[in-house]
Amino acid sequence: MKTSGGSDAAKRRAGESAAEAVADGEVVGLGTGSTAAHAIRRLGDRVGSGLDIRGVATSFASRELAADRGIPLLDLDEAVGPDAPGIDVAIDGADQVAVGAAGSDKTASDEAAAGVGPLIKGGGAAHAREKLVDAAAGRFLVVADPSKEVPVLDRSVPVEVLPAGRSAVAEAVRAAGGEPTLRRAERKDGPVVTDNGNLVLDCAFGEIDDPGALATALSTTPGVVEHGLFVGLADEVHVGTETDVRVARR
Ligand code: A5P
Repeated sequence: MKTSGGSDAAKRRAGESAAEAVADGEVVGLGTGSTAAHAIRRLGDRVGSGLDIRGVATSFASRELAADRGIPLLDLDEAVGPDAPGIDVAIDGADQVAVGAAGSDKTASDEAAAGVGPLIKGGGAAHAREKLVDAAAGRFLVVADPSKEVPVLDRSVPVEVLPAGRSAVAEAVRAAGGEPTLRRAERKDGPVVTDNGNLVLDCAFGEIDDPGALATALSTTPGVVEHGLFVGLADEVHVGTETDVRVARR
């Protein structure tokens, strides 16, 4: 499952809108995917014009793009810790953003009513490092196009698993009412292997009425490294359209 979505122009408006919200001196989490890439390019342009920031990449791909665009980089270990600067803001894409009624989970309902999630991420298999960086950031800005907005999350949830735990996690997902599918590589025989050396199960649950409860169930399953449900993390959602950008804040 690779990333999907609307037009590149809409993604660019979203990414550039979030990049303009970054201030001089900040440490910035750099998300993964085609929409976050627009934010990284704009930040690179701003660095070229004198903006003083340091980036923390969420994947091999975002590190490569940021380095190419001249953005100074920190490892996550250098950014977070007792004597570290911290991460001021993270900008990242999403595969789905729940807006409006999101079911019975209070946290999820509250944030969805405000138009700021919960989210499904991991279309590019980068969600483990993305969640580390996005959760550590003082502000998490989601960038998306309108095709990502849904009333209730219903896309398959990417679940990164230890290779040895693949079958056990798949059984646990089935027991929880889901249908797991091992993600296959497109230009390599065999499965997708993440930046962390793990495998990905795309788990179909149908409509997810209670994202918080499912997130907890997946997080507590042995063998799960990380899943793509991001609940209660987003602070802003920048949705690019064909003409402008809508920004929702909670
Ligand atoms: C990467 O694993 C994902 O979480 C991406 O952020 C997500 O798939 C959005 O990607 P696009 O912006 O390319 O749709």
